[in-house]
Amino acid sequence: MSDWYKKMAFYQIWIRSFADGNGDGIGDLWGVMDKLEYLKDLGVDGIWFSPIYPSPNADFGYDISDYKNIHPDYGNLELFQRVLKKAHALGLKVIMDLVVNHTSDEHPWFLESRKGKDNPYSDYYIWRDQPNNWDSLFEGKAWEYDETRGQYYLHLFAKKQPDLNMDNPKVRQEVEDIMRFWLDMGVDGFREDVINFISKREGLPNGVPFLPAVNGMMHYKDGPHIYEYNRQFRKVCEGYDCFQIGEGPMTTLQSAQKYLCGENKCLDMMFSFDHMMADCFYTEYMHRPFSLLKFKKAISKWQYGLAGKGWNALYLENHDHPRIISRYGSEIFHKQSGKMLAACYLFLQGTPFIYQGQEIGMTNIRLGKIEHYEDVSSKTNYHRYHVKDSTARRLYRIHLSSRDSARTPMQWDEGPNAGFCPEGVKPWFYVNHNHPGINVQRQQQDPDSILQFYKTCLRLRKQSRCLIFGDYKEHFPKDPEVFMYERSLDNIHYLIVCSFARLAIPFRVPKAIEGKMAELVLGNYEHGKKSPHAGKSGDNVVRLMSTGFLRPYECRVYRWKS
Ligand code: GLC
Ligand code: CA
Repeated sequence: MSDWYKKMAFYQIWIRSFADGNGDGIGDLWGVMDKLEYLKDLGVDGIWFSPIYPSPNADFGYDISDYKNIHPDYGNLELFQRVLKKAHALGLKVIMDLVVNHTSDEHPWFLESRKGKDNPYSDYYIWRDQPNNWDSLFEGKAWEYDETRGQYYLHLFAKKQPDLNMDNPKVRQEVEDIMRFWLDMGVDGFREDVINFISKREGLPNGVPFLPAVNGMMHYKDGPHIYEYNRQFRKVCEGYDCFQIGEGPMTTLQSAQKYLCGENKCLDMMFSFDHMMADCFYTEYMHRPFSLLKFKKAISKWQYGLAGKGWNALYLENHDHPRIISRYGSEIFHKQSGKMLAACYLFLQGTPFIYQGQEIGMTNIRLGKIEHYEDVSSKTNYHRYHVKDSTARRLYRIHLSSRDSARTPMQWDEGPNAGFCPEGVKPWFYVNHNHPGINVQRQQQDPDSILQFYKTCLRLRKQSRCLIFGDYKEHFPKDPEVFMYERSLDNIHYLIVCSFARLAIPFRVPKAIEGKMAELVLGNYEHGKKSPHAGKSGDNVVRLMSTGFLRPYECRVYRWKS
């Protein structure tokens, strides 16, 4: 399989909030069709669609009731094919979300399965007379009693997301069929949802209770047949020029290495979770103050750990996490920190993913009541943890942590509904009130905007083999305020300097580099007369010295030849 994906950058679309093309307040494929040029212009090379299939939306698309169709809210198969064709014509690859750990309880397989033990679908799901002690990640215990069948079914996520029985060869056959259906249509690969959970330990033994929500995980994460099943799915992909990226809660470097390298290799990349826990414990709801040291440690662990063996997936945002400026950056230093965060990850080794709205620096939404939130896991967390805390305190945790902050409508312009849907139409979810200041239109007109900065970064990355394939080396790993790393290939070097401090701090360069004549190719503050962010090659050559200051959330990218 070729490795075209290494040179790419992806854009993730969570369609419901992206762009409403038919004026019903819900994002759709008509809207996507209109925005493909925007994505091309941004400089990405591919799109990952979060699920766009028919779904009762208990978990907004991650509960699928028909794997081979499009949700009527979003369009239909014919429209999808037109979007795919146009994307391909623009040179954009398209990957789909493959969600096969579970289906919706409204999927015809489940409707059949619950009828009893003697039908072709009876073993498609995991049924037991007695539940074990596992917790679900989203809603209470992991077992729900079904009156019709008179048994309990397993659901690792919400009640409306029954787990498929992957040990049944017919189920694996169905997965192969689903994959072929989309690959034959021309899609370029899959993002595979909770793919490390699909093989459960035989006998489903009790877990050791220690933290609500994860009790049982030791028996279903990276389970006994996980590589065998994933190898089977890999074989399907091998017949096509496509790629596979896996997602799984709590994926560690050690487990990722097994999926990505060696005899078990069954995926091209895996999303890491380590760097998303620099301000929380396990879930964002268990908030802690942001620690740059934790962030850097996680990044370096994966950069070094996969070097020469696997390939990293780089991201700071997706539909499961609150907005990164509100977490690791600063809403006060909105523009500076938004740009710095872009530079801090877009130049790492790996394939970058940008989540809708991240490129304009969208921030968290803060709603007044838990009832105003939509996300099932936010609601559960609110009622599951810290229940003795005051309402205000728990709501504050929701403000910090809710996945809904990533799911507010995309801010296209300053007009009504942020240009997401027509004036007078009620958008399906709250638009962030900051859209007059933070929107695409405004940032397109402003050469100094976060949006333009993303474009510059993506262009710079694409033009440089060093930034794509070069070695990674972290400098000053113990510095609690600055993330500094070097990329090098042959005689080309880049130094990426990112300050996470709110105040000016002294600028230091590593001894080995001091004195080098380097070009400042990118930055988020003006230096001298020039805005480095707009700097042309040959300008801004400086001697690298430990003098002067880094301003709040300043970032700089230097390049030199050795
Ligand atoms: C993944 C998805 C998340 C979903 C869950 C269950 O973690 O990214 O959105 O809720 O799986 O499908
Ligand atoms: Ca619509």
